[in-house]
Amino acid sequence: MSDTSKNATLRIGDSSYELPIHSPTAGPDVIDIRKLYGQAGVFTYDPGFTSTAACDSTITFIDGDKGELLHRGYPIDQLAAKSHYLEVCYLLLYGELPSAAKLEEFETTITHHTMIHEQMHNFFRGFRRDAHPMATMVGVVGAMAAFYHDSTDINDPRQREVASHRLIAKVPTIAAMAYKYSIGQPFVYPRNDLDYAANFLHMCFAVPAEEYVVDPILARAMDRIFTLHADHEQNASTSTVRLASSSGANPFACIAAGIACLWGPAHGGANQACLEMLKEIGSPENIPEYIARAKDKDDPFRLMGFGHRVYKNFDPRATVMKQSADEVLDLLGVENNPVLATAKELEKAALADPYFSEKKLFPNVDFYSGIILEAMGFPTAMFTPIFALSRTVGWISQWKEQLADPQMKIGRPRQLYRGETTRDYVDIENR
Ligand code: ACO
Repeated sequence: MSDTSKNATLRIGDSSYELPIHSPTAGPDVIDIRKLYGQAGVFTYDPGFTSTAACDSTITFIDGDKGELLHRGYPIDQLAAKSHYLEVCYLLLYGELPSAAKLEEFETTITHHTMIHEQMHNFFRGFRRDAHPMATMVGVVGAMAAFYHDSTDINDPRQREVASHRLIAKVPTIAAMAYKYSIGQPFVYPRNDLDYAANFLHMCFAVPAEEYVVDPILARAMDRIFTLHADHEQNASTSTVRLASSSGANPFACIAAGIACLWGPAHGGANQACLEMLKEIGSPENIPEYIARAKDKDDPFRLMGFGHRVYKNFDPRATVMKQSADEVLDLLGVENNPVLATAKELEKAALADPYFSEKKLFPNVDFYSGIILEAMGFPTAMFTPIFALSRTVGWISQWKEQLADPQMKIGRPRQLYRGETTRDYVDIENR
């Protein structure tokens, strides 16, 4: 925790309490309330953690008003344009961009961990074919703890590192296997001559009956999607990983918890929900009806792919994603794509509507990612697994950082209790 030179004074009745203020390298000051309950006997109340910093971190910084996302200080648009996913993984995990030799060593390590234990194939066969691949992933990633015992000791730095490499390397294999199983095709083993993104496309789309050649432009677009989703500060799934890890749980259990949290439509499930919404809208003339529904307080409908807890200007990932959507559709010769046309018109209509501008609701990363993924041939159910495999490195980097933090404690929020006070048990015949 940074040194403090400022204090905040909290007055409760006639008593006042001095609370230290920590100044970060970027972002708002943070009032340290750790001793508040001990000193004043009160809790703070912040459902949804809208004003609460739960940890110290040096990994990712977001300025929601400026629309800025930095990984270890590097802007996401520069990383998306000049770097690639495994280099960004190294940066997130180790804090600095690698030298050429370090990068080669890291890529070799990841490439040589992509196969999963052969016996794990049996797990997939136990699931129904129509299981959502996220359900399969939660189960199989959690089950890694049953296979890789030599990397579950969180107190051993070497075991932590091996677990990190295994997860980054094997989660794409697991996601691709979940997909292959769901469509009744044989599993495709990873190939060490392909890079990370090309290997994933190969595992998803190759079949033993014929050769599948990965288009380098599609591999680049896939890599960019991975890069744009690699980490995002203390979002719901990352906080879930940190909370799970705070009890000392093994890394595979923690990442399975993160995958489970990511699945929800308010988080990683939004890309699937967004594409389904765009298809339901169907064509630009139906947009006014959906905009009206999104604004209607009595209708639970929300514009999927719009709004963000932190970005209140624009989501810098959405800007890159929109360009990618144009490039990929162009490459694939998809002209006059009705979903893309609806998306562009919807974006225009919503941005011109005061409801959305006043509430600072802008397209987020999920608004365009589904269109690209569908054009590449992925079914909607695979969108969130792809997000999960991309985010695995972010979860692991945050997990690793937390375990090295001497201030780490088990996460244990308090509550504002509004239930009954003590009352006597009533026998069943008297109720
Ligand atoms: N459509 C219509 N209205 C919206 C939308 C939306 N997509 N998002 C927020 N609003 C409105 C809310 O109704 C609320 O209005 P009010 O102040 O009149 O009550 C106001 O904007 C603020 O919204 P909150 O829900 O309080 O904001 P919060 O920060 O809790 O939610 C969230 C952020 C969950 C992303 C929300 O905007 C949403 O549900 N968006 C759609 C789902 C989505 O795209 N999720 C992806 C997030 S990015 C990611 O995980 C990669």
